Amino acid sequence: MTRARSHPARSDQPGNGNGTDPPPGPRIVVALDYADPRAALDFAARVTPAECRLKVGKELFTRGGPAVVEALCARGFEVFLDLKFHDIPNTVAGAVRAAADLGVWMLNVHAAGGPAMLEAAAQALPRGKRPLLIAVTVLTSMDDTQLDAVGWPGPAPVLVRRLALLAAHSGLDGVVCSAQEVAGLRAALPAGFRFVTPGIRPPGGARDDQRRVTTPGEAIRAGASYLVIGRPVTAADEPAGVLLTLNEEIAATGRT
Ligand code: C5P
Repeated sequence: MTRARSHPARSDQPGNGNGTDPPPGPRIVVALDYADPRAALDFAARVTPAECRLKVGKELFTRGGPAVVEALCARGFEVFLDLKFHDIPNTVAGAVRAAADLGVWMLNVHAAGGPAMLEAAAQALPRGKRPLLIAVTVLTSMDDTQLDAVGWPGPAPVLVRRLALLAAHSGLDGVVCSAQEVAGLRAALPAGFRFVTPGIRPPGGARDDQRRVTTPGEAIRAGASYLVIGRPVTAADEPAGVLLTLNEEIAATGRT
């Protein structure tokens, strides 16, 4: 059984009033999109908490459950639990509390859940040491054609801005968005507000199913706080080598 645990000291807590820009610690969050929890743990054995944080998403969590999150935390990694909660406020508040009890560093909900759901999520977390609570704005796999198909008004950057302002107003610590949108948003949002950006591809890398993509250097220069990177690292023959190269590209921006 999983028990609520007290949170270790976090290296980044803008929600507690000490968020600095740029944020401390590694900027890359590797998406552990593995079907087999053992593969995720094998990857974690090849990298260090100084080089990256780790993201556990829906596939890995559904297969590995809380145990895989706890194992990664026990190895000293800061874990982003990317379950993108989106439900009625009471249900999301309970889910957010349960996620926080796992000892994760960051967790997220969908901004499209609306202000009541976002406020319930923020209020569900204790003051003081708590995970960063982040809102997904518009998935980076969505372009204007995809938005139109579900009846959402585009263009994507306008919708992202609206949802980011809503998230900040509702007491969240940051948003997930494309790095392409960060530069235009920074000035409109409080200092220390975090921008978590997937859709990152090395120069010339395959886009896969991502649409609004950016290189690591471009994302950091645009003001991204954390870069979520999956397949370019996890599908590489030498993941640790790719991670090193990406961290060097980030360091070369001078924004660390
Ligand atoms: O392999 P890739 O780098 O495309 O992985 C991106 C990761 O970021 C995936 O785990 C995906 O679920 C996640 N993500 C995303 N877009 C969002 C939020 C999360 O791609 N808006």
